[in-house]
Amino acid sequence: MQSRLKRKFLPMYMRFVVFALLLLLIGTSNLAQTPPVAATPPMGWNSWNHFAGKIDDAIVRAQADVMVSSGMRDAGYIYINIDDTWQGQRDARGVIHPNNKFPDMKALADYVHAKGLKLGIYSSPGPKTCAGFEGSYGHEEQDAETYAEWGIDFLKYDLCSFGNIMKAAGSPEAAHKLMLDAYTKMHNALLKTGRPIVFSLCQYGADHVWRWGTSVGGNSWRTTGDISDNYSRMTEIGFEQAGLARFAGPGHWNDPDMLEVGNGGMNLDEYRTHMGLWALLAAPLLAGNDLSTMKPETIALLTNKEVIAIDQDPLGKQADRVYAEGSEEIWARPLADGSKAVGIFNRFDWPQTIEINFHELGFKGRVKARDIWAAKDLGTLPSHYSSRVAAHGMVLLRVSE
Ligand code: GAL
Repeated sequence: MQSRLKRKFLPMYMRFVVFALLLLLIGTSNLAQTPPVAATPPMGWNSWNHFAGKIDDAIVRAQADVMVSSGMRDAGYIYINIDDTWQGQRDARGVIHPNNKFPDMKALADYVHAKGLKLGIYSSPGPKTCAGFEGSYGHEEQDAETYAEWGIDFLKYDLCSFGNIMKAAGSPEAAHKLMLDAYTKMHNALLKTGRPIVFSLCQYGADHVWRWGTSVGGNSWRTTGDISDNYSRMTEIGFEQAGLARFAGPGHWNDPDMLEVGNGGMNLDEYRTHMGLWALLAAPLLAGNDLSTMKPETIALLTNKEVIAIDQDPLGKQADRVYAEGSEEIWARPLADGSKAVGIFNRFDWPQTIEINFHELGFKGRVKARDIWAAKDLGTLPSHYSSRVAAHGMVLLRVSE
């Protein structure tokens, strides 16, 4: 009797084990096929900083072409993001259509995808976007489905007129909850489509978004108001990021706004500061210039491999301020290979010599260092190191024991 039971029980048990193993295998192979989005900070281009409302299908295609021909795609810039002003009207069923600047969004996505790039789009949880175009309020699932049908890979979701709905909520707590619900609603709608879509929150850092951005599905969140193409605003935003490092990591990044590199309002030293600071901050690198008229120095800056490697370092640890005095700032971030990226910034309007002490950065004894902008190994250095830093410039080092 016992042996008959055993004979019957064992095969059933074994069948269950085999079934469970099969399920596990299918599950993990699915995971392997869809890697999590934004494992490193998203890189690409966005239309707003340069083109604002003057963006159309032809310009987007031209940017995609240059993304490839300039070497930017191969340097890691993948997303071609259309910002505000693409939206037309909803049809009788409520489905959103692009306006006449974008005759066929699916065809545009196909064009961009054929180049090995991805396409991003923009909307608002409010009824209207910041430029007064149609938002997603009340149409979240429908819009997410439309985006997925078109082949969209990235959504910037900008608070805009949802602020008015929040004002009517009666209390700051109720307003806060409304905002979280609105972002969660779109996150769930995107998930439901089954398409991996980067979810980029834009609400200018309200209510300390870095504390809860991940909980509403954000892959990144703007930490500030808008950047503009001048040294003063760029550094105001950049240096304001002190203290936010612990909130960022693979899949969820602080976003100090898109790049202005190449737009003409800063000199080369200032744009190096912009690019180097954003790389230290593990910020999304979304170029905001007209790629089709880039000077060689802009291409060189945007595609600097060693700077991009710092931004995209797989450890995903954002830099923090180590020290600031007067107009000197030292920032550092740990990197996956055990080295550190160190930024030495001069905020003065004239050059100055800045000394750093590697021991203050956690190093013991002598260190090995490489000057990234100079593309030069500095060899072995003692604990104190002085460098001449240009007005509004920075020295960017990669330092190891
Ligand atoms: C702002 C946003 C900008 C841009 C603009 C479009 O709120 O911060 O980055 O998207 O809206 O109207």
